[in-house]
Amino acid sequence: MGRDFAITTKNETETINLGVKIASSLKNGDVIALYGDLGSGKTRLAKGICQGLDVKQMVNSPTFIIVNEYNSSKFHNIFHFDLYRLKSEDEILAMGFEDYMNNRGIILIEWPEHAERLLPLDTVKIHISHSAENENERWIKVEGIAI
Ligand SMILES: Nc1ncnc2c1ncn2[C@@H]1O[C@H](COP(=O)(O)OP(=O)(O)OP(=O)(O)O)[C@@H](O)[C@H]1O
Ligand SMILES: [Mg+2]
Repeated sequence: MGRDFAITTKNETETINLGVKIASSLKNGDVIALYGDLGSGKTRLAKGICQGLDVKQMVNSPTFIIVNEYNSSKFHNIFHFDLYRLKSEDEILAMGFEDYMNNRGIILIEWPEHAERLLPLDTVKIHISHSAENENERWIKVEGIAI
């Protein structure tokens, strides 16, 4: 598949497995923005990516603590953001977002639209949407990475 592609998953396991595949194309320094409504599957995809990056820790939405840090035997640290509660760019800057973006690790961001103007130009953008027909189906559009 090319650097932009779309895929339908039929259940959360397929979304996690897509994350594992995406992880095999990632390198240190990559930023991955995960767009999608509440409950669309951003954290499930992040969980799959982390599994593929050989993270052993539990992966949850860091909604209240804003950022989780995970360790990997193969990569620099992984930072997992949930910007849901941070509505203004000032708040996001105040938590040191730009320093994280320059970090050597891999960055995963839920609700990246809250920091749209602060995202690096080469951010991998993944959009997840619910299907109208089936409650467990998701349409996942990936821009900026080949798997
Ligand atoms: N195809 C699918 N892919 C991913 N999740 C699915 C799928 N079908 C059903 N689900 C369910 O949808 C929910 C997705 O939850 P998840 O926490 O990943 O969403 P989220 O986008 O991170 O939400 P939030 O914005 O609240 O953080 C889970 O309950 C999961 O079981
Ligand atoms: Mg989440």
